[in-house]
Amino acid sequence: MLSSKLQDALNEQMKNEFFSAYLYMAMAGYFQSEDLPGFASWMRTQALEEMTHGEKFFNFLCEAGGRTDLRPIDGPKNDFASPLATFKFSLKHENFVTDSINKLMDLAKEEGNHAAQIFLQWFVTEQVEEEASFGQVLKNLQRVEGDGRGLLMLDQELGQRTFVPPATE
Ligand code: FEO
Repeated sequence: MLSSKLQDALNEQMKNEFFSAYLYMAMAGYFQSEDLPGFASWMRTQALEEMTHGEKFFNFLCEAGGRTDLRPIDGPKNDFASPLATFKFSLKHENFVTDSINKLMDLAKEEGNHAAQIFLQWFVTEQVEEEASFGQVLKNLQRVEGDGRGLLMLDQELGQRTFVPPATE
């Protein structure tokens, strides 16, 4: 059973995950418009991952006897000043997601909901990976700043990323 407070917080996080997919698709559109198909592909892959994150919350809410509540999603930012600015923005967004996952975990602990804690543990680990991967691209962009050739090489490298669906529990 889920308390109404925990159910509300899980639904809110489901929205955050689906919003993340929307935001990263917007970033993919920006990169496409800048003729950087590798960056665009990387962001599209990230958007697919975020969809699976939202789906995990949907599944958990159903399985834990809760009620899903799909909430309105705000329009994301669509225009960015540069690839570097885009990754700065996305890393900040991931910091926000990490913070909201941690708060959810605190609530699950406070309520003694063991099932929710085990479910959320996957996201705690995932956020460490996500912040690291966004942070790595940001560092690489800082290194190649002003170097068009370096940017193209990075674009080729990022284009190699493929979507691997997370294992289902
Ligand atoms: Fe699912 Fe990138 O947070």
